[in-house]
Amino acid sequence: MNQPLMVRPALLALDLSDKIYVVTGANSGLGLATTRQLAKQGARVIMGCRRLPEGNRVADALRAELPKAKLEVLQLDLGELDSVRRFAQEVRQRHDALHGLVNNAGVMNTPAGHTKDGFETQFGTNHLGHFLLTELLLDVLMAGSPSRVIILSSFFHEDSLGRKGAIHFDDPNYHQRRYDGWEAYAQSKLANLLHARELARRLRGTRVTVASVNPGWVRTNLVKLPIPKWVENYIAIPLLRMAGMIEPWEGVQTTLHALLAPEVAEQSGEYFSQKARYKDKQSRAGGWPLRSPNPLAHDDVTAERLWQLSAELVKVPASRSAQNIE
Ligand SMILES: NC(=O)c1ccc[n+]([C@@H]2O[C@H](COP(=O)([O-])OP(=O)(O)OC[C@H]3O[C@@H](n4cnc5c(N)ncnc54)[C@H](OP(=O)(O)O)[C@@H]3O)[C@@H](O)[C@H]2O)c1
Repeated sequence: MNQPLMVRPALLALDLSDKIYVVTGANSGLGLATTRQLAKQGARVIMGCRRLPEGNRVADALRAELPKAKLEVLQLDLGELDSVRRFAQEVRQRHDALHGLVNNAGVMNTPAGHTKDGFETQFGTNHLGHFLLTELLLDVLMAGSPSRVIILSSFFHEDSLGRKGAIHFDDPNYHQRRYDGWEAYAQSKLANLLHARELARRLRGTRVTVASVNPGWVRTNLVKLPIPKWVENYIAIPLLRMAGMIEPWEGVQTTLHALLAPEVAEQSGEYFSQKARYKDKQSRAGGWPLRSPNPLAHDDVTAERLWQLSAELVKVPASRSAQNIE
């Protein structure tokens, strides 16, 4: 594959020492690479981590690498709405204003199962947990504006190994249908994209900018190979690289662009994509922004319907975002 799309170097030299960001899933893969770069630029980063001891271990390692890093590790399990509420409350108690929320954490093709609140694991973790978190942090994001909400989607929102990305309104949580892990992943990642689109529409006229992101095909724990380390290092990685797989540092380029590039403030609600293996050939070169090849990604009726459903499932008023800005 050609070189991945890369952020303008000037953006990575910005002084962010007066900024505060929340990154979910900050202990691993793309979340860790995002945290590292923001901390390097002087920002304070609140690391939302499912496993607190692991989050603390990773934060200590980052502090050893970057002695001036300003990191706060807080427990966050997106698969449990009470945990999301506790996390948001703790963030709000510590900080009156936020400059960015990176909804990064995610799971992929999990076995059939449900979150503590009865949602299908991927829809519940990847979308609904982040939906509630965003709602609960919106007023501190408004207080810190200009600010941004970046939501990690995936090129699998178009087609996930043959399963078209769609929101299955009849049974989004697979209570009646036969479970398919890749179909559920595609649903959750289309939901991430539509969440960004609809949130941007509701926040029009404010200085809170929203973007969804595809990081590309990235070598992280999400795509861990069940093979010995030496086979991975000497055989698999070079071959996968040739096939288009990139490293976490390259994968976060799109997130960093969406978070830091000034022009994105005029592109709220758009989808920003690294180069990737889209089914649709034209999209493979990526784009910041890219017009998604999935027609549903442009369907405002679906976006609004998903919003209503999500608000009902996580029990927040459907008009909450709109009310906050009036
Ligand atoms: N890697 C790719 O090729 C690729 C492609 C497209 C999109 N993405 C998206 O990129 C995002 C980051 O994934 P990654 O590739 O960096 O994978 P990763 O290395 O597995 O990181 C995922 C992170 O999410 C956290 N997480 C999982 N379940 C959680 C929960 N219930 N509550 C809170 N945190 C939870 C994980 O915590 P633990 O360490 O405790 O499990 C981990 O920190 C995901 O949204 C994914 O869909 C990745």
